[in-house]
Amino acid sequence: MRVTSRERLGEQYADDARLALRQETHRRYSERPDNTPAWVLGLLAPGIGDLVLDAGAGNGAYHSAVQSRGAKIVAVERAMGMIRSVSEPAASYVAGDVTALPLSSDTVDHSMANHMLYHVPDIPAALQELARVTRAGGQVAMTTNGDRRESPLQRLHERAARELGIDADVPITTDRFGDHNLGQVRRVFPDAATHAQVNALVFPTAEPVLAYYASGPVDSVREPTADTRRELVTRMDELVRQRIAADGEFRIPKRVVCYLATAP
Ligand SMILES: C[S@@+](CC[C@H](N)C(=O)[O-])C[C@H]1O[C@@H](n2cnc3c(N)ncnc32)[C@H](O)[C@@H]1O
Repeated sequence: MRVTSRERLGEQYADDARLALRQETHRRYSERPDNTPAWVLGLLAPGIGDLVLDAGAGNGAYHSAVQSRGAKIVAVERAMGMIRSVSEPAASYVAGDVTALPLSSDTVDHSMANHMLYHVPDIPAALQELARVTRAGGQVAMTTNGDRRESPLQRLHERAARELGIDADVPITTDRFGDHNLGQVRRVFPDAATHAQVNALVFPTAEPVLAYYASGPVDSVREPTADTRRELVTRMDELVRQRIAADGEFRIPKRVVCYLATAP
């Protein structure tokens, strides 16, 4: 059965299981310590008592970093399952969409939209909404991944799909919002600047690579189904094992990008 991109997103964030698996993978297998929330909060630099919007907050991975700076959080999240997955929320969660934020104008001191803008069909509308709700002079952080087209995982995925006759010629998340989007961000936030962190995932064994792959990247095909997932995971298992046998590890360079801007 064909799955639409909207249904795929609903499935992806029905609860936080897949997101939590990817977060744990980055924590465990990064070559150098990876603490993206602490890095982004260092750039955003909220003051004590400031109110920070977390748009597309997911399972609240940034909230302890916000709280450790004495700031408060209002979290807006579209997926109810994601909101339910947060057992002891550090933030007040509001169900809503980043392109129609359920907040009055100029009500937050700073805003964040982390690893979520690539999911939004109308990115300019989301940027306008972040600008509308943030008080003039507040900081806005928009975090995403650098280009993953050339990542060894994506290359192996494309090879596996080609061998299996599965059409994988589709946009990936970083094509939609990656490290080429500064111009788009500056149309709303003229002083936006790019900050980047370079790191790598290094896997000594195949299992965590396959778990990571199955949690999301496997669906980068035109018509994902249970069959395409099964066939791709099986073939990727062979290809990743071959690579580890040859190289002793499977290494995926990664780059996290944060556009930081002042609300006009
Ligand atoms: C990859 S997760 C990132 C979660 C969190 N920001 C983080 O970095 O850990 C993307 C989140 O954005 C949410 N999301 C996607 N589109 C959205 C939209 N239009 N409005 C609000 N939330 C959205 C998803 O439900 C999901 O929880």
